[in-house]
Amino acid sequence: MNHNGLPERICCIGAGYVGGPTMAVIARKCPEIRVTVVDVDQDRVAAWNSERLPVYERGLDELVRETRGKNLFFSADVDAAIRQAQLIFICVNTPTKNYGQGQGKAADLVYVERCARRIAEQAERGTIVVEKSTVPVRTAEMIQTIMEQEDRDVQVLSNPEFMAEGTAIEDLNVPDRVLIGSADTPAGRAAAETLAGIYRTWVDPERIILTGIWSSELSKLSANAFLAQKISSINALSALCEATQADVTEVANAVGCDERIGPRFLRASVGFGGSCFKKDLLNLVYLCEHYGLSEVAAYWQSVLQLNEYQKTRFANQLVRSLFNTVTEKKIAIFGFAFKQGTNDVRESPAITVCRQLLTDRAWLGVYDPAVPEASVRQELSDVTGSAGGRLEVFSDPYDACDGSHALVILTEWNSFRDLDFRRIFASMHKPAVLFDGRNLLDIEEMRRLGFQVRGVGKV
Ligand code: UDX
Ligand code: UDX
Repeated sequence: MNHNGLPERICCIGAGYVGGPTMAVIARKCPEIRVTVVDVDQDRVAAWNSERLPVYERGLDELVRETRGKNLFFSADVDAAIRQAQLIFICVNTPTKNYGQGQGKAADLVYVERCARRIAEQAERGTIVVEKSTVPVRTAEMIQTIMEQEDRDVQVLSNPEFMAEGTAIEDLNVPDRVLIGSADTPAGRAAAETLAGIYRTWVDPERIILTGIWSSELSKLSANAFLAQKISSINALSALCEATQADVTEVANAVGCDERIGPRFLRASVGFGGSCFKKDLLNLVYLCEHYGLSEVAAYWQSVLQLNEYQKTRFANQLVRSLFNTVTEKKIAIFGFAFKQGTNDVRESPAITVCRQLLTDRAWLGVYDPAVPEASVRQELSDVTGSAGGRLEVFSDPYDACDGSHALVILTEWNSFRDLDFRRIFASMHKPAVLFDGRNLLDIEEMRRLGFQVRGVGKV
């Protein structure tokens, strides 16, 4: 530890969407700490050491440029980094299990356990291990047990990450809260203090919450479940709005003005995506079932079911508006990322919608300002086949629309608003159908241009 009580060297295992940006911010805020981010994926490490970072986030390039090679390092030498660190973040992925017990629901903890075993083998005594990956409640117990088997005097903390993609750097710079869970022992509390000391370098101390370790683990799952629930609630109402000629944006505004509810996360959409919401809801459902709480499990399951319903409902409406068939029709897709501001396509609603359209033998022209063509093709490979089939990916939005019967907006990229829709309309077959899955555009203006427009939860 240095004279401020901060660790001199920290290590993060997992150079992903969470590990990379989080460590870049710590390195920038704490120049006296040497931060090493390690990953088993050598290509990923090489990308972090190159000019083209593997993660697209506003402000990240500058941060990495300022700190890389000074006190921020990316390396594939996992063991060396573990041995040298006084504090180790576990930031590896915890995907939904796709095999065996808990298949399709439980979190797959194989990577977390592998990290824990490696730390137990390599770490110095007294190291602090911080669980940042989103995990089921009581995962810290497993990590602690592995450490004890190797007779390691290691403290395990839970410090879930609440940043959202697209605003990761802002969220990390000014977090709503930093949550640190520890064992209720003097050693546990001391370890929590050390970690809190790092965050206190730039975070308002009142926003640093110290809790028991199980509460901390469960809070991350709960926060994501609440956020997803808010979206599913407004999306459920969007269907009712369409049936009753109410306008979902007006309803959301009126509802969100109530301070107890709040205005955020009430944007009706084609559905939520991203690596976290579905995985964490499934994980929560699995946990509830494990503890025999079937009604609680069913409640959270319904949030997910509604999301699936919303995506399919949207695609079905589109087909209906094209005279019940999209076969051989060209459809332009704007946006493939799961939200704006990121190149991440994990669980993107665009995947479900595009799959359905391709299965119905439509031709798709996809345009996304940040997602590489390879990611689009990979996600749709099972329906397009290896030859790429009926899918074209464009780097120019106007080319994507040329000769299409419909234009579908699936990601809320602000830049779409600035496009020349008069030109787009002129290049499309008529009637030109515009399906706005994010209620991004001004419906009235688009109608004036001649489009047949449909939003979500709109007349
Ligand atoms: C991940 C989890 O999905 C999330 O639950 C958690 O909150 C934070 O970590 P993310 O950073 O988005 O989120 O995942 P991903 O981009 O897949 O990065 C994980 C990295 O860990 C990958 O680069 C992978 O190669 C690496 N990894 C995985 C290891 O270095 N070692 C392993 O044993 C397994
Ligand atoms: C989420 C949580 O917000 C974050 O705190 C946690 O650490 C990780 O999971 P993320 O998945 O990166 O972050 O993005 P988020 O902004 O939550 O959006 C998730 C999905 O919901 C996106 O597809 C987004 O487009 C959609 N969404 C969001 C809506 O459809 N309507 C809304 O009102 C808000």
